Amino acid sequence: MAVANRKFRMSKIIVLMGAPGAGKGTQARLLQERLRLPQISTGDMLRAVAQARTALAEEVRAIQHGGRLIPDEMVIRVVEDRTAKDDCHDGYILDGFPRTAAQAQMLEDLAARQTKKLSAILIDVPQALLEKRMTGRRSCPICGEIYNVYFRPAKADNQCDHHPEAQLTQRADDRQEKVRVRLETYERETAPLLDYYQGTGRLHRVDGTESPEEIYGDVEKILSNEVVRAQSSASPKRD
Ligand code: AP5
Ligand code: MG
Repeated sequence: MAVANRKFRMSKIIVLMGAPGAGKGTQARLLQERLRLPQISTGDMLRAVAQARTALAEEVRAIQHGGRLIPDEMVIRVVEDRTAKDDCHDGYILDGFPRTAAQAQMLEDLAARQTKKLSAILIDVPQALLEKRMTGRRSCPICGEIYNVYFRPAKADNQCDHHPEAQLTQRADDRQEKVRVRLETYERETAPLLDYYQGTGRLHRVDGTESPEEIYGDVEKILSNEVVRAQSSASPKRD
């Protein structure tokens, strides 16, 4: 469905939810490209923090590599700073945030302060597929393009399609034993947030087993319907 980007220009926060490996990053990149809203991936930002040579970086690296969650205070600070930037004025896409009840509460306060509407979209993928999605993932260290050795291989073995000079890399937490920890952490800390968004009427589900383009089409329909709903509730009633 070709829908003009203008249609989605209602200032909003699009929250991509889903288990590790569900395809949040893949969809966030498509949304960023096509809606011209920034992708805010806490995982990517924290991986960037972890690259420094400081005690804090060391700590972040150890937690991420172990598949556990970074403390709320730190993640919240990162999101506060990033969402205050000018490019977030018309809205933004959250990928990997919120993940705990405290983060969800912070996001409610932030949305109220910024007078933005929040929509949560769950990319639903059965557990059996998630492991392959993660263990097969490779990405380009230059542009961040995401590949998968099983589902979306690069054209040439282990080379980015856009940057042939770059060898694709595998995330340290995508190794089998870490994948298990991440899935357990998700079930314990993050999955309960789905009930919260469902209960407040802001959760939409898409079938994450479809192709990335089909999923994108479903997401686009959800966003488009929301704009239509908002416009019809804002327009004056006729007698
Ligand atoms: P983060 O980087 O957010 O990782 P994650 O949530 O575990 O999710 P992933 O990035 O693994 O998967 P994804 O859903 O983005 O899937 P992708 O599109 O890549 O977080 C990493 C760590 O950082 C956390 O463990 C924690 O330590 C820390 N952290 C981050 N945020 C935090 C927070 N808020 N609080 C505390 N700590 C935090 O796709 C996966 C693979 O599948 C790819 O290979 C892709 O090509 C393939 N694929 C995608 N879509 C499809 C499809 N439709 N069909 C077939 N293949 C597909
Ligand atoms: Mg991701």
